[in-house]
Amino acid sequence: MNLDKNLLPHHVGIIMDGNGRWAQNQGLIRSAGHLAGVKTLKEIIKTAVNIELEALTVYAFSTENWNRPHTEVDFLMHLFSEYLEKEKRELNEKNVKIHFIGRIDELPESLIKQARDAENMMMNNTGLKFNVATNYGGQDEIVRATQKIARQVNEGTLKVDDIDADIFEAALDTCDSPPVDLMIRTGGDLRVSNFLLWQSAYAEFWFTETPFPNFKPEEFLQALSDFAKRDRRFGSIK
Ligand code: IPE
Ligand code: IPE
Ligand code: MG
Repeated sequence: MNLDKNLLPHHVGIIMDGNGRWAQNQGLIRSAGHLAGVKTLKEIIKTAVNIELEALTVYAFSTENWNRPHTEVDFLMHLFSEYLEKEKRELNEKNVKIHFIGRIDELPESLIKQARDAENMMMNNTGLKFNVATNYGGQDEIVRATQKIARQVNEGTLKVDDIDADIFEAALDTCDSPPVDLMIRTGGDLRVSNFLLWQSAYAEFWFTETPFPNFKPEEFLQALSDFAKRDRRFGSIK
């Protein structure tokens, strides 16, 4: 597939959905789907690095996902740990800069440490900005950003009238990345599920029935190629 570099999105968000149903459809337990999802993610990252994408944010665990059975939540937390342990060296070699977004301080202690270690390891990398949304909720992020800003006002370092969209954006977890241009959701559902609410204000949406474990680089490239054909008007007219 021939992709025009100038027409690539700067920042892609992926709602990696459909793992559980993928597994259950084959008589496997839901966790088998999460395991398969990790394999897919590795391929997607490889592709993103190859095409020199600027930023990729993936939805790994939402603030609502705590409502799932303990066994599944535990499995996911272990899976994130294992993923980091196994992959961080290779990500680093690929010049990827990993960053965790969401309420990281509420994750298991050992995972927090691993996440911070990986971030420190890749801190000075200049390649793909890879944001992993873990215990992330878009509304929660907006509330936390508001708290940060309110504190600055309280301390007298910021005036209420100086608060604008740039200041707000700088208080978000994704302050290092450009706005989301392309939002992909696998798994067949047509909703945002509290992901990157502010950042996707003008994103193009791309939905597929394919469950995340079956989402191959070819389909990812198809989404990018479709994006290149979208007419983005940003409220203006041609
Ligand atoms: C997405 O897949 C992964 C996480 C939410 C962690 P699901 O686990 O939601 O899979 P489905 O949507 O139930 O098939
Ligand atoms: C969104 O998927 C969260 C992640 C992919 C991590 P969900 O499966 O949790 O979303 P809903 O429940 O279908 O909205
Ligand atoms: Mg789901």
